[in-house]
Amino acid sequence: MRQRGFIYGGDYNPEQWLDTPEILKKDIEYMKAAHINEVTLGVFSWSVLEPQEGVYHFEWLKQLIDNLWKNGISVMLSTPSAARPKWLSDAYPEVLRVNEDRTKNLFGGRHNHCYTSPIYREAIYKIDRKLSEEFGNHPAILNWHISNELGGECHCPLCQAAFKKWLKEKYQTIDALNKAWNTTFWSHTYLSFDQVESPSTKGEKMLHGLNLDWERFVTDQTADFVSWEKKAIEDGGSKLPVTINMMYDFRGLNYHKFKDIIDIASWDNYPTWHKEAEEKTALDVAFQHDFIRSLLKKPFLLMESSPTATNWQSVSKLRRPGILSVSSLQAIAHGADSVQYFQIRQSRGASEKFHGAVIDHYGGMDTRVFKEVTAVGSELIKLSEIAGSETKARVAILHDCESRWAMEDSQGPRNKGLHYEDTLKKVYHGLRRLGLNVDILDMEEELDGYDLVFAPMLYLFRSQIETKIRNYVAEGGTFVMTYWSGIVNETDLCHLGGTPHDLMDVFGLRSTELDALYDKDENSGKSTGVFFSEDKTYTCKYFCDLIKTSTAKPLLTYESDFYKGLPAMTVNTYEKGTAYYICADFEGCFYDDLCEKLAKEKNLIHIPFAIPEGISVNTRENDTKVFLFIQNFREEAFVVTMHGTKWKLLMGAETGIVSQYETAVYWMEK
Ligand code: GAL
Repeated sequence: MRQRGFIYGGDYNPEQWLDTPEILKKDIEYMKAAHINEVTLGVFSWSVLEPQEGVYHFEWLKQLIDNLWKNGISVMLSTPSAARPKWLSDAYPEVLRVNEDRTKNLFGGRHNHCYTSPIYREAIYKIDRKLSEEFGNHPAILNWHISNELGGECHCPLCQAAFKKWLKEKYQTIDALNKAWNTTFWSHTYLSFDQVESPSTKGEKMLHGLNLDWERFVTDQTADFVSWEKKAIEDGGSKLPVTINMMYDFRGLNYHKFKDIIDIASWDNYPTWHKEAEEKTALDVAFQHDFIRSLLKKPFLLMESSPTATNWQSVSKLRRPGILSVSSLQAIAHGADSVQYFQIRQSRGASEKFHGAVIDHYGGMDTRVFKEVTAVGSELIKLSEIAGSETKARVAILHDCESRWAMEDSQGPRNKGLHYEDTLKKVYHGLRRLGLNVDILDMEEELDGYDLVFAPMLYLFRSQIETKIRNYVAEGGTFVMTYWSGIVNETDLCHLGGTPHDLMDVFGLRSTELDALYDKDENSGKSTGVFFSEDKTYTCKYFCDLIKTSTAKPLLTYESDFYKGLPAMTVNTYEKGTAYYICADFEGCFYDDLCEKLAKEKNLIHIPFAIPEGISVNTRENDTKVFLFIQNFREEAFVVTMHGTKWKLLMGAETGIVSQYETAVYWMEK
């Protein structure tokens, strides 16, 4: 991207205002006043760009882009595939999506198309290519934004045929598929690929291998659609980077599969601030920022966020003064190179007319929101030298989408809640309270280069993760894994011969049985005095793994039930490294203590002060400098003490006071 400094702007829908040029003129004036230097155009413009099949009207867009550019405002240009014009579905009903129950949707909404349909693909190819020919080399355009929040699945005959083909390529023979899915269970053996259909609650939903492969197929088909759009752009002559805007904790797609297609990762962030403790929301958002940043391991874009309330959450609570700044700069702290809003100007009608916007229906600059937006713009200018800098992490958490799909579909051992996300967040919290940057990886990534890797509930093993873990520990790494790991293979068949699969020697144990606890049940793990001090006891809930050790040493033992005295946490030395095994779902303070101990052992903590709850600390670095962000998500002010350190103040109070919702930024020569 050619932008210098941070990108500041967001979704702009001028096609809704083409008959009021005075408003479009004002918009530019307002953008400049708010330090906005970018807008995202064209997300939902198809019916204006191509009002009839083959009739293209790009003049209005050209005029707009030229004018924006003249005023120093760049553009992310979107392809319009997320919502198509009515003429298209009327003329070609095959483009309409078919639901899991095999009913066909009517025209309406958005994201309501079939990704397989050759007609849809052809229509989008034509317009994307034309957009690229027309604008792909315009100096205003920073990058392409393909579609919008891709998601959902289609079960139409075209998708069924594509799924069968996908399966045939994967398994080659129907016998191999039957084995991989264990179809003799309930006598569901297939005689040919033609007999296989996508899962449906009206039909087959009990073959876990089928469900998993269908989710993989949906991801692949969607990724293929994105590649197709990218090809149209390239065929049109543009070589600008492309991105897709991803969504919060979205389970419908494995986003890792898009990382070879996109050049920049981006996501849309709509936290429910003020719903629960701010620090809890902040931690949740932080995890998502790190997940998105880790996809390409380089700066990402905050593609959308609301300048104030949204309108689609159950309660549209206004953002309290200050939240906009702290939440925008949180993205920057975690490695974003942009702050972008949905939306610049609020729509007059339809379903988003009450969604927060930079310019509201009143239409003045003297609103609370506009003033805060302007203040964030000034803050970004102040921090501009940080743009493009990297986030370096020496610790990682494994969080694999396919494993999660399988785990959530597993039926047993705890259908009323695996508490997987909570477990992830407990580990993440333990690391973040030490001011550590954290990478979130899936199983296809390499583990080399990290000092410490955590794998909570790594249920399904794929991509030779067992070999990677073995090699990582053998080479001196410290690996922490929990109960319910290494249970099934890639096609969701249970591993035979003991678990964690192929790692029993690395961890020095075998998991013999997993006890699932009712919500009211509790057990606890008491320290053996070898690792934690002797007086330490940690409560656990939901899961207690009963293990048989070979070479592992117990660090905690269960305090009650028939397995009282059995290990609840162990350590094992394997070649040059160390493998920890956590047997139960322990309370948060267990992970806080564990992370602190391991981080100290590995000499990972470099923040010169203790970080209390509600204070968030991150670093970014470029070739010459390290930047330190300190953000306050709690009520009480925090006082940063940097005496005797090399850190110098870049943003914030000289006194070191960081009040609620404030951000202080320091820097240091490398
Ligand atoms: C996003 C979407 C935008 C807008 C926004 C409202 O999910 O990409 O187009 O609808 O939500 O919050």
